[in-house]
Amino acid sequence: TKKIILDTDPGIDDAMAILFAEAHPDIELLALTTVFGNATIDNGTRNALYLKDRFKMKAVIAKGASQPLVRAPVGPTEIVHGVTGLGDFQIPDSFVGHHDSRPAYQYIIDTVKAYPHEITLVAVGPLTNLALALQAAPEIAQLVAEVVVMGGAFGVNDHRGNVTPYAEANIHDDPHAADIVFCAPWPVTIIGLDVTEESFFSATYLEQLRHDTGDVGEFIFDISRYYLRFYSQKVGLDGCHVHDPSAIAYVIDPTLFTTRKGAVRVVCEGPASGMTLQKLDNRRYQTDEWSSMPAQQVGVTVNARRLLDLYRQTI
Ligand code: BDR
Ligand code: CA
Repeated sequence: TKKIILDTDPGIDDAMAILFAEAHPDIELLALTTVFGNATIDNGTRNALYLKDRFKMKAVIAKGASQPLVRAPVGPTEIVHGVTGLGDFQIPDSFVGHHDSRPAYQYIIDTVKAYPHEITLVAVGPLTNLALALQAAPEIAQLVAEVVVMGGAFGVNDHRGNVTPYAEANIHDDPHAADIVFCAPWPVTIIGLDVTEESFFSATYLEQLRHDTGDVGEFIFDISRYYLRFYSQKVGLDGCHVHDPSAIAYVIDPTLFTTRKGAVRVVCEGPASGMTLQKLDNRRYQTDEWSSMPAQQVGVTVNARRLLDLYRQTI
């Protein structure tokens, strides 16, 4: 089994990914570390605590960053994920949960050091916590087994962005953090819109999931109602893309994807802020900055049918 720390901004598709990771026997879900993004840090953390309680998860919940490193905060994406982050699903007012006393980045550092070369960091929100962990303890780069990120878009089949024409939400919300994470000397696999928008949970698929899989499927169905209204009204689709669960699918079965290697950087200022770039040629250029950068993996294709089967079977 793989020990994973899931860094997340829950978030409807985040919840879908959390329950997927929790259910799969090859994954030991050690923790959910939370970050601002789809919801405020308080709401996102409360959502993580609720999932832990309702689905009897062992995972530690550690509360993370409330805002990006450098850029101005963007605010929660209520139009996509609802006011509190789980659509119109209401957590009972009486619910109280308890998170770890350490901030998320410190939990990440401590746990990576406690299990050298064993931890897979999976990040499906803005990359602020991972960047803070690297800044405070750069040596963790050598101690992590692997980093898997849902974020960015690299132009495969013309996928470029969802928040702006040239930026995907997780990278857009903290481009400086993402650039730090992609430039660090650890192995990163980036599952971007290039592949996540190629898999689709149709309305029928989600109904079937509710019908076939009991409490977990029913919860996924309930939180997806708001998300599907957004997709039908603003995107014009009868279902939703499979963003965050795709990163978990990669951890479980990397053969679902093909990838390509090359240095990755993020545009941090200006009209293309949040845009992700990958260098794919072997040319030497006049400035050598890019050639010394670690080659990271970027998802290029996905077998969507097998991914959807894996999700259903696991749930
Ligand atoms: C990403 O942004 C968030 O809205 C989703 O949870 C996902 O992580 C997709 O661009
Ligand atoms: Ca997310």
